[in-house]
Formats: sequence, C-alpha cells, structure tokens
Amino acid sequence: MAILHIALMGNKILMEKSKQISDPTKPEYKKLAKDMQETLENIGANGLAAPQVHVPERLVVYRIVAHQIPPESNMKPVPWRVLINPIVTPQTDEVKPIWERCLSLPGLHGEVPRYTKVQLTAQQLDGSKIEIKASGFHAMLLQHECDHLDGVLYPMQMIDISTLSFDTELGDSRFYIPRSAEEFME
Ligand code: NI
Repeated sequence: MAILHIALMGNKILMEKSKQISDPTKPEYKKLAKDMQETLENIGANGLAAPQVHVPERLVVYRIVAHQIPPESNMKPVPWRVLINPIVTPQTDEVKPIWERCLSLPGLHGEVPRYTKVQLTAQQLDGSKIEIKASGFHAMLLQHECDHLDGVLYPMQMIDISTLSFDTELGDSRFYIPRSAEEFME
C-alpha cells in the first residue's frame, strides 16, 4: 500500500498545465491510479488529480462515497473511476455556487460558481473511452479535478472570496454535500 504525499497550495507543480497521456495502458498509470486510490481511501476523500501527487500528467481518480450522500437526496454513489485526458463540456449555461474543499488546501472550504450540468469524456486505464453525464455535486467535482490539470485551484475560480473559511468554524454544518434533491438528478 502506498500513501502518496499531497502537494499543497504554493507548490509550483499545482500551477502547471499537466501533460497529455499518450498511452493510458502503460503499467505506470495503473500503479499511479492504485496509489492515488489508496491515498484517497486513507483520508476518506473523493477525488485527486495527478499533479496533486507530484505527477504533472492528465489523470484523475475519483468516487462518490455512499455514506456521504444525504438520505433525502437522489444522488447515487459513484464507484472508483480513473479518468485519463478528461475533457469537460458544460451542458447548460446555468452556473451555481457550490461549497468546495481541496486536499491541497487542507482545513479550508469556499463557495465556487460551477456549471450545474456537464458531460465528461476521457480514456480509461485499458484505453477504452468513457462518457459521463453529471449534475450538482458530481458535476462540480469533475470541474474541480479537471481544473487541477490546468494548474487551477478552486480559490482562483471564486467570485466571493469572503466565503473562503476554515472548516473548524463550520459548527453543525460540517456536511459539505448539499441536501437539495434537485441538485442531484442525473
Ligand atoms: Ni482539489
């Protein structure tokens, strides 16, 4: 088991545009994805982009854990997915602010405007193509992770910087996935 060291905001690797992966089936990517998955499991987090673990290449690992989904929402869990060379295309003009956190800015959260519906195309580790339609929290997560591949951290997308806050000040509202059911219809 390998737990990877996560680069924090200020590290130059997070500001770089990551390289396109020419052969997703190379064993090194399978190992990287497995290590990233173990790193996320270890922290109990949902998503990680390769530059966050010091590899400036276009690879993202994510999932959405069932126990983090509010019971009254219609959101479905998402199993582990590895996205290689992902491209996000908005499916609506609608943009809504949503709370985000990032493993590269531990202890903080902030409100970021994101497209509410997106489509993502990517390659997988076996070289096959995957197409994902996502809305609400899932759509935000995909936009957030793909931003990392272009050297963009969520504070760079914030409009109202006054919402950037320490998690310790949240009190009872420690749950970050919004509860409104309409946010999760897919
Ligand atoms: Ni992040």
